[in-house]
Amino acid sequence: MSPVAVAIGEYIEQLSRRVEQALDRLVPAESNPPEIIHKAMRYSLFAGGKRVRPVLCIEAARAVSGGEPDLIMDVACALEMIHTYSLIHDDLPALDNDDLRRGRPTSHKVFGEAMAILAGDALLTHAFVVLGSIGDARLVSELATASGTVGGMIAGQVHDIEGERQSPTAELLDRIHRAKTGALLRASVRMGAIHAGASEDQLDALSRYGEHIGLAFQIVDDLLDVLQTSEELGKTAGKDAAQHKITFPAVYGVEASRLMAERERDSAHACLTGFGVNATRLHELADLIVDRSK
Ligand code: IPE
Ligand code: IPE
Ligand code: MG
Ligand code: MG
Ligand code: MG
Repeated sequence: MSPVAVAIGEYIEQLSRRVEQALDRLVPAESNPPEIIHKAMRYSLFAGGKRVRPVLCIEAARAVSGGEPDLIMDVACALEMIHTYSLIHDDLPALDNDDLRRGRPTSHKVFGEAMAILAGDALLTHAFVVLGSIGDARLVSELATASGTVGGMIAGQVHDIEGERQSPTAELLDRIHRAKTGALLRASVRMGAIHAGASEDQLDALSRYGEHIGLAFQIVDDLLDVLQTSEELGKTAGKDAAQHKITFPAVYGVEASRLMAERERDSAHACLTGFGVNATRLHELADLIVDRSK
């Protein structure tokens, strides 16, 4: 069956199930001692989640080579491990201090703060066990850099936390969002492309696509925090204003922020012109990132 024969929502559900089966294969069983850490890792990994990063990785590979998801599945899973680690730590009392994540109590609420910190550390470490075994140093470098302190996720989290005590500027807002969320989304697309053997031009185009959807993704995350309920989101709504976060709606208002997300989406579409029908899902994902309700 051609991949586009299935509607995007159902398609992502099917692909997410395959990602979850692969995660189950790759992460040590709960019965493995010390049991508590494997329980905590799995509690957060299998709490749901939209699996946007693995799906982007798989679809970027398809855009380049028409490839089968199974060929890139372990790379996709390493991305989800890093992302889940970042969520566990984002929710810690010392960071956003959140009680609800993926529709469940946060890791530190269930396992205590020490185990939540270690579960995050463990998912971070395990991502590189998985990625290292693939034997392509470029992928290791991409993921480590995107998660790191120079324009990567940790840099963004640092600016985000410091921003709680700073007056919002457009420049700081852009820096926070591109780093804390954009970098890993961009890397998801790039890693799929690299693994599939992308040319320089293809990698460049897909990197730009990743930057646009990365920024759109966090603009929409900020909007949903304002517009949705905690039940709808599976995480605490209204927290950004309560914690004086520097967000798009805080700086530009809801309407202008939505227009900015749509502009990023349109720019993302424009990056895909050279890829033809194999990029159909990437087009649909750009739309979904902006139109989603959670
Ligand atoms: C939430 O990410 C945190 C951000 C980086 C904005 P997602 O919205 O992808 O969360 P899950 O994986 O679906 O839970
Ligand atoms: C989190 O940003 C980005 C990460 C690196 C995890 P947020 O703090 O806005 O994410 P949510 O809204 O708690 O999911
Ligand atoms: Mg945060
Ligand atoms: Mg948060
Ligand atoms: Mg948020």
